[in-house]
Amino acid sequence: MGSFGRLATRVVETQMPVMVQVQELQRRYTNAVSLAQGVVYWLPPQQALDRARELVFEPSISRYGADEGIPELREALIKKMRLENKLNKSSVMVTAGANQAFVNLVLTLCDAGDSVVMFAPYYFNAYMSFQMTGITNILVGPGNPKTLYPDADWLERTLLETNPPPKLVTVVNPGNPTGTYIPEPLLKRISDLCRDAGAWLLVDNTYEYFMYDGLKHSCLEGNHIVNIFSFSKAYGMMGWRVGYIAYPTEVEGLADQLLKVQDNIPICASIISQRLALYSLELGPEWVTERVKDLVKNREIVLEALSPLGEDGVRGGEGAIYLWAKLPGQYVDDFEVVKWLARKHGVLVIPGSSCGCPGNLRISFGGLIESECKAAAERLRGGLEELVRDGMVDN
Ligand SMILES: Cc1ncc(COP(=O)(O)O)c(C=O)c1O
Repeated sequence: MGSFGRLATRVVETQMPVMVQVQELQRRYTNAVSLAQGVVYWLPPQQALDRARELVFEPSISRYGADEGIPELREALIKKMRLENKLNKSSVMVTAGANQAFVNLVLTLCDAGDSVVMFAPYYFNAYMSFQMTGITNILVGPGNPKTLYPDADWLERTLLETNPPPKLVTVVNPGNPTGTYIPEPLLKRISDLCRDAGAWLLVDNTYEYFMYDGLKHSCLEGNHIVNIFSFSKAYGMMGWRVGYIAYPTEVEGLADQLLKVQDNIPICASIISQRLALYSLELGPEWVTERVKDLVKNREIVLEALSPLGEDGVRGGEGAIYLWAKLPGQYVDDFEVVKWLARKHGVLVIPGSSCGCPGNLRISFGGLIESECKAAAERLRGGLEELVRDGMVDN
């Protein structure tokens, strides 16, 4: 065994992240268009970018900032959370994106060997974050086959029957990979079950502004609830890496423990990125919701492209930027289908197996402007028609 023998087993045993695998397909099939990555097509607000550009030579940009985030941004976020999310008793920590917020929380709230709960289909990065931080018992609950809502009856039984009870339950709302929105009464029931069992509830609100058909996003607050948010999709700031944690102020010691983790990973989120986040936030949520309105057309276009899979083949999409599609029964190995679609039809999507549900596809409709989305959807439709009619033939 060479020097690689020293790699940590916990990392070795995890699969390569699905996005890394899809990026590899993208490099190989350079003409393929992507309905894979969870991104939006817009850039950050021009006014905010102009202001950030002015800052480059300011010394504070090159120095470390406060671990929990620059005071101006934290203050603005506290206001935003009160006004928009009805979070009145929460403190805030700024992170390098919602993914880092998630890892911070797992490291802060869970110990190696704990059990945790998530629901299938799950957000692949959350699953891997648990695996890599020593959680050995990841209990994956079912979703309702029609609505894909987390099964709260299963959760109730699981929290009662697992000894010691799971330390943390997590949901994404609206969801990645399905776009399913968890209605407030159901979220409340999940929260009450967690509170009664002494478990934390971690809600990922990355897509809070991405709601369609008149639905309105809402958050819950409590001394057992942590919420995470992201600037990535809302303000087109994927590469700037800014997210945040809203955590209960009243829980003694939590702020200190979060700071320990933060100081050992990014120390602080990039200062210029935090400034850009602040300037973007100042434009108000309307800046985001105006752009989200445009995605309704993209969703329609992709929905139409999925029609070869039949009416019952497509679920979700009432929020976020995703649709969830069931492949014909023989295609359990969905990654083979994904590779074939890339190779033969020049379109990239995500295999459902990476979200714990083999035999499905996740399709993102956020990353392309309407004309490009149409072109990508045509390829997808062509591929799916052929798949259903002839199978995965290669010429
Ligand atoms: C549910 C969810 N959480 C977190 C993230 C990561 O967001 P960030 O770029 O803020 O780390 C994503 C990105 O796709 C996501 O879909």
